[in-house]
Amino acid sequence: MFITIEGPEGSGKSTAVNTAVKHLETLGYKIVRTREPGGTPISEKIREVILDKGNTMMDPRTEALLYAASRRQHLVEKVWPALERGEIVVCDRYLDSSLAYQGGARHLGIDEVLNINLFATEHTYPDLTLLFDIEPELGLARIAANSNREVNRLDLEKLEFHKTVRDTFLLLAKRYPERYVIIDASKSVEDVANATIEAILNRLCK
Ligand code: TYD
Repeated sequence: MFITIEGPEGSGKSTAVNTAVKHLETLGYKIVRTREPGGTPISEKIREVILDKGNTMMDPRTEALLYAASRRQHLVEKVWPALERGEIVVCDRYLDSSLAYQGGARHLGIDEVLNINLFATEHTYPDLTLLFDIEPELGLARIAANSNREVNRLDLEKLEFHKTVRDTFLLLAKRYPERYVIIDASKSVEDVANATIEAILNRLCK
């Protein structure tokens, strides 16, 4: 089972997923928790290049290709082996982030970005995608209030960019209803964590 966690900045997805993963582990499930871009030494190096605030000259297609390259290496080294062992992989961000950020907000087009990602992933789609949905204004305010979180190159984009990211995620949820579950991330931390656990257990028990 391959589960991906998606959403705009400041949706609180990591906190909710940490709680959900702990709960599922107490029920006996073996879970590999990982993230993109990153998750392996090579992919973490690519991550540094992508998110470096100094890289103001980065071209949108270069950005899309770097995310896809990082994704491929992470699949090969970490995700596919874990799935082969029969474990549950929970990954913060995956393919849909590229479709929303590079395809939507960077205007490269969803299908163009999907194409390079189908090459990179050999058509590996998640079984379940949890979309932590939140108004960008609220998400960005949460980031601003959280001094522990490091601000990256994409956080610095204007509000309009983040609105397009959100709208594209909602569009993708309509396009892939069989794997998408939308979680209202504006609710309390406890409610969001409970909704996360429920969505994962529903899928596991299918
Ligand atoms: P990260 O600090 O991991 O963000 P978050 O905590 O919001 O998940 O940084 C990842 C950034 O990269 C985030 O702004 C989303 C962006 N991103 C893309 O633009 N395309 C992608 O394919 C992926 C995986 C992430």
